[in-house]
Amino acid sequence: MSVQYGVISWNRQKRVYDLTLVSLVALYLTIFVGVGVWRNPSATAETLLIRALGTAAFLLLNVVLCIGPLSRLDRRFLPLLYNRRHLGVTTFLLGLSHGGFGLVQFHALGNVNPLVSLFISNPRYGSIADFPFQSLGFVALIILFLMAATSHDFWLRNLSAPMWKRLHMLVYLAYALLVAHVTLGALQSERSPMLAAALIVGVAAVLALHLAAALRERRMDRATHQVTGEGFVEVCHVDCIPEKCATIVSLSGERVAVFRYDGKVSAISNVCQHQNGPLGEGRIIDGCVTCPWHGYQYQPESGAAPPPFKEKIPTFRVKVVEGMVFVHPSPNPAGTRVEPARIESAHANFSEAQPR
Ligand code: HEM
Ligand code: FES
Repeated sequence: MSVQYGVISWNRQKRVYDLTLVSLVALYLTIFVGVGVWRNPSATAETLLIRALGTAAFLLLNVVLCIGPLSRLDRRFLPLLYNRRHLGVTTFLLGLSHGGFGLVQFHALGNVNPLVSLFISNPRYGSIADFPFQSLGFVALIILFLMAATSHDFWLRNLSAPMWKRLHMLVYLAYALLVAHVTLGALQSERSPMLAAALIVGVAAVLALHLAAALRERRMDRATHQVTGEGFVEVCHVDCIPEKCATIVSLSGERVAVFRYDGKVSAISNVCQHQNGPLGEGRIIDGCVTCPWHGYQYQPESGAAPPPFKEKIPTFRVKVVEGMVFVHPSPNPAGTRVEPARIESAHANFSEAQPR
């Protein structure tokens, strides 16, 4: 977490994740090239490799973009989200190999610098059928490079979270550029409908999943809640919150994660200090709320990370009355300890803020 930057440690889970990823990529490349040779024995190895690497990179980018909304819609996809950065870096490396081979194949033999040739060898920027589509791939590659190079937490700290987030949102621009790269490039000459079909399915899946996740969150944000005399808002019956998990509720425009654990209920901000991960989708592990994205931890009563870590998030006052959970919508300053509400007591059970 925040105390110091160490060398990235590859635990068993990461090793299995990376090994599976590398094996799947190798399998895809082998099958693509094998089928290519079988269907078209006159195709050169370079062409098949360029195509195999390009489609692998683009496919992986589609997967990367689908994982976010998928895990918001269904918690079972969360394990894929944990090491999504590894998928991003692999996407860049595949794109780099594809682009590098493309540069050598199409631009290295002239007397102009290959990178200059990429932009000027075909000047028909006004044409659709003959558009210099490779330049779009190059710009997308630069964006993928910036994202891969700043993916470590060191950069998150140094660039600040909002700046880092803004930089990483450029992935959608890279995606749009790559859709154009393929549509204006390979699709113009491709006779088989396979590539067009794969492109349409990929784009439709990315759009549909983002829309479904956004609609679900909008429904949650717009849900109305009953307010009691003291300003507490009725959230749900305590039985609706699974043990060591949370329900997320939107109060006065702020998402709050209400956790149930060991016969108690606590409420903290839903927003993780690391990269705004949804804490309410995480679980309580070893007594701490554990972010589902990269595992940052917070104590449920205080919103503070366990020592020696320094992160703090706002807490909320909670009460449980006759099995119903109520939360006060005014956030306490980050790190303020709030006595959890006890579930056993069927009667009013107020929790008071105690500044640390
Ligand atoms: C310097 C950057 C790049 C160059 C010079 C480049 C070059 C090319 C070329 C020449 C083709 C046509 C291949 C053919 O039809 O035989 C192509 C197709 C393609 N490129 Fe790129 N590209 C670049 C970046 C990227 C990146 C970053 C991605 C994905 C992350 C990508 C994905 C694709 C895909 C999916 C195709 C269609 C594959 C196919 O032909 O079946 N390209 N690219
Ligand atoms: S967003 Fe990374 S740990 Fe929470």
